[in-house]
Amino acid sequence: TKGGYEHFMYKEINEQPGALRRTTQGRLDTRTGGAKLDEFPPGTFADVQQVHLIAMGTSHHAGMYAASLLNARGIPAYAFMSGEYSVVKPPVTPSTLVVAVSQSGETADTLDAVRRARSAGARTLAVTNVVGSSITRECDDELLLRAGPEIGVAATKTFSSQVTALALLAERITEDYTGMKSTDSRELMNALARLPGDVQEILDTSTAREVAIEYEGSDAYFFIGRGPAHPVALEGALKFKEISYEHAEGFAASELKHGPLALVTPITPVFAIFTGHEDEATLSNVKEVQARGAPVIAVTSDESSEIAEFADHVLSIPETHPEIAGILANVQLQLVAYHAANLLERPIDKPRNLAKCVTVE
Ligand code: F6R
Repeated sequence: TKGGYEHFMYKEINEQPGALRRTTQGRLDTRTGGAKLDEFPPGTFADVQQVHLIAMGTSHHAGMYAASLLNARGIPAYAFMSGEYSVVKPPVTPSTLVVAVSQSGETADTLDAVRRARSAGARTLAVTNVVGSSITRECDDELLLRAGPEIGVAATKTFSSQVTALALLAERITEDYTGMKSTDSRELMNALARLPGDVQEILDTSTAREVAIEYEGSDAYFFIGRGPAHPVALEGALKFKEISYEHAEGFAASELKHGPLALVTPITPVFAIFTGHEDEATLSNVKEVQARGAPVIAVTSDESSEIAEFADHVLSIPETHPEIAGILANVQLQLVAYHAANLLERPIDKPRNLAKCVTVE
């Protein structure tokens, strides 16, 4: 049931602190750093030379996020849409770990990509929310999200849990690949332990509804970010378009000048996501869109900075480890999408033309 909420999506957004607590339960070593994954003891990934993350939609954004976490730790990692994986055929060897990310565990494109990876000799690992789903049978190993059932077609709490579970997996892979814990592992594990509380703080204080009201009726909504904030920009736009039916697009902030800037006008609000990854450069992108009259909504933990001074609105996130700040920023963008769609009286839990699970290619 919706437990008093008007929509499953809103219920599931609000369930995130509990979902994240379950995702991390017993899996964090906050004292010495490192992930404690019973399924994957130290040394499990000693033979892994590169990681491919394959997924679709929101899960692909989580895969992109994880690739950036792994790259930052020196691990060769690449994210692919599973629907492209069998077409592009990136080289796979027995030392490739293929991580298939799927909430449902039933997405046809992702299952197909897993089969291709297996037949090429790769080791396959499913990150999924559904116990006993097809993907757990097709892959060598599984890492469960434990986020609880997700009913709303728009994935929300499972994205947060996917990124969190993948951050833990990334720690284990890093330790096995480099022979030591990443230097900031303890800080990261402690930040993950605080994550449920940080998300709760956003749920309690967000001004996302005011932002949705202020910019209702705009021509389009753009989202920009760098590093791990890039997949968060894509995810912010995906959520916004799928439930509001308004035109929304996400870009790497660095891409703006190479075309998308032509679309920017005083009636295209731009959401700029700051997670401590070359924020100065993103701030100069903000100045560029403002020079075209576009309103800017900054998602940042740094309210006293130049960022806040330039932005028309700030959606504030608690200060945390930069590698997981994107999870918090995404919660603010989930709320913006939800309130925008609700103002337009859209059927939020069952958007037109979409299914919770895409079982045909
Ligand atoms: C968007 C959404 C979809 C799914 C995609 C993959 O809100 O839910 O983009 O993320 O269809 O689904 P799973 O994760 O079940 O493989």
